[in-house]
Amino acid sequence: MATLSAVLATTHHPFFLKATELTPPEEQMPQAPEWKRKVEAYRETLTAAEPDILVMVGADHFHQFFHDNYPTFLIGKQPTYDATYYNEEREFSIPRYVLDGHEELSGFMLQGLLDRGFDFSVSHELKLDHSIICPIITTRPDGDLPVVPIYTNIFAPPLPSPKRFWDLGRAIREIIDEYPSDKRIAAVGSGHLSLELGGPRQFGETGPDPVFDRQAIEWLSNGDIDSILANVTHESMSGSGNATHGFMDLILMMGIAGPEKAAYVDDLDLFHTMEAYFTWYPSGDPRERTASR
Ligand SMILES: [Fe+2]
Repeated sequence: MATLSAVLATTHHPFFLKATELTPPEEQMPQAPEWKRKVEAYRETLTAAEPDILVMVGADHFHQFFHDNYPTFLIGKQPTYDATYYNEEREFSIPRYVLDGHEELSGFMLQGLLDRGFDFSVSHELKLDHSIICPIITTRPDGDLPVVPIYTNIFAPPLPSPKRFWDLGRAIREIIDEYPSDKRIAAVGSGHLSLELGGPRQFGETGPDPVFDRQAIEWLSNGDIDSILANVTHESMSGSGNATHGFMDLILMMGIAGPEKAAYVDDLDLFHTMEAYFTWYPSGDPRERTASR
């Protein structure tokens, strides 16, 4: 059976590359060197897990899907995926990518999800946006591994419940564990903490709800799904910022890992947003093996 070698849950800040490597040092924002250091340290947590295939979780930011036809849950099943939309190149300087797909695992995942009551849409013409490419840039910038992209609806209400995202994560975990392969699989997903887009709280000193951000980081660090489900609702997320529903993709990723403490946790308080980085190692911490060699 396949090995789930790592689960990563991360925020996806589209300006990372532009703010760090693409800006001369003398013109960078003050947090840029620390941001780059933290991202590179986070990247090591994936590298150490030596993955062969990446299951990527993200959400289309109204690039390909719109209110008229927005899939609740969707999986891509293609030989390759083009990535990066024109507005992402123009505004964020995000490069274009072409990622290999893993059609066999996509098919196995789709069937496994249907068998478990998750009636996914499937796309053969999916183009990826920064919800998946930002984590590629931060954790696997060579983009050299085949991917299985999974998209969730965190943008176009009505949305699935936080519990549904957790249950979906648990189902994905079962399917990866059952996949008949000797490959090492890592799951890498991105979402948000408290976030305001285009609203009055967008450009504050901190994210729109720093209290929620601290709480959310603690819950995710501890695998504390009970507290999340007791406290986080669509209404509470709306109160924390108009785009905070992306937190549900972080819940999903913790669902893949299970109700366990994360092996690696880091965060960075950028003005107007809190960045956070979590890694779980369901098959044991590869950094310990390396250290004892
Ligand atoms: Fe986003």
